[in-house]
Amino acid sequence: MDEPSLTLVEKSFTFEDCGGSQSLTVSIPEVLDPHYGMYVWPCAVVLSQYVWKTRSELQHKTVLEIAPQHIRRVMKSVCELQLGAGVSLSGVVAAKCGARVILSDSAELPLCLRNCRRSCDANHLPDVPVIGLTWGQVSPELLSLPPVDVILGSDVFYEPEDFEDVLVTVSFIVRKNPHAQLWTTYQERSADWSIDALLLKWDLKCINVPLETFDANKTHLAGSTLPGNHTVQMMIITKRVV
Ligand SMILES: C[S@@+](CC[C@H](N)C(=O)[O-])C[C@H]1O[C@@H](n2cnc3c(N)ncnc32)[C@H](O)[C@@H]1O
Repeated sequence: MDEPSLTLVEKSFTFEDCGGSQSLTVSIPEVLDPHYGMYVWPCAVVLSQYVWKTRSELQHKTVLEIAPQHIRRVMKSVCELQLGAGVSLSGVVAAKCGARVILSDSAELPLCLRNCRRSCDANHLPDVPVIGLTWGQVSPELLSLPPVDVILGSDVFYEPEDFEDVLVTVSFIVRKNPHAQLWTTYQERSADWSIDALLLKWDLKCINVPLETFDANKTHLAGSTLPGNHTVQMMIITKRVV
């Protein structure tokens, strides 16, 4: 099928260490279209800053592989799955930092899946898989995921009617991968919205990560003014041990 003609604008984001000793620039093509998944959201820049700051944990982790005759140590890079990726800034940053990344967006939104692919292409990441994963649905794609260490979700809690579907998918993944964590950034849009009751219902728990602990308490981040004065929170959601 021919791609409809789209107007694209490339945005650059540069993540740096305090002293400027290391930096990473990624380029994200945005589509001039008001749909949610067509451009970078403030939450994405904050989550990407967290990924950048914790990158040393992403490159390699030691796992013990136990075979019948022997125990051996192997080095594996962390596997990160991004949910509701849209134009995929944080997944692209994670992949550039050495994680094995899988990008996903709704299976019903092929244009968003195309955005994921386009962001990979713009950053020379041809091997990153892009899959359709619709929150709340137990699909063949969800069932056939490889082991996952980290789930990335920037601004996935933006429509209250979707909150439970997002957590159903997260709960499914952490049941199969009990050590897995959801790293998520949330933009406060209403003081009445809360996920606390849903976390309990789906055997999940949450800790808040203060933005100042990863230098994200700024109106400008990664050369972008997107964070601005929005109230963004960073949370880590894990399996609740009952
Ligand atoms: C507010 S946007 C955030 C996009 C991106 N994560 C960011 O922060 O720039 C929400 C994303 O969730 C995706 N989405 C919406 N409903 C979904 C569903 N039911 N299942 C999976 N993804 C969905 C949208 O296509 C969009 O990419």
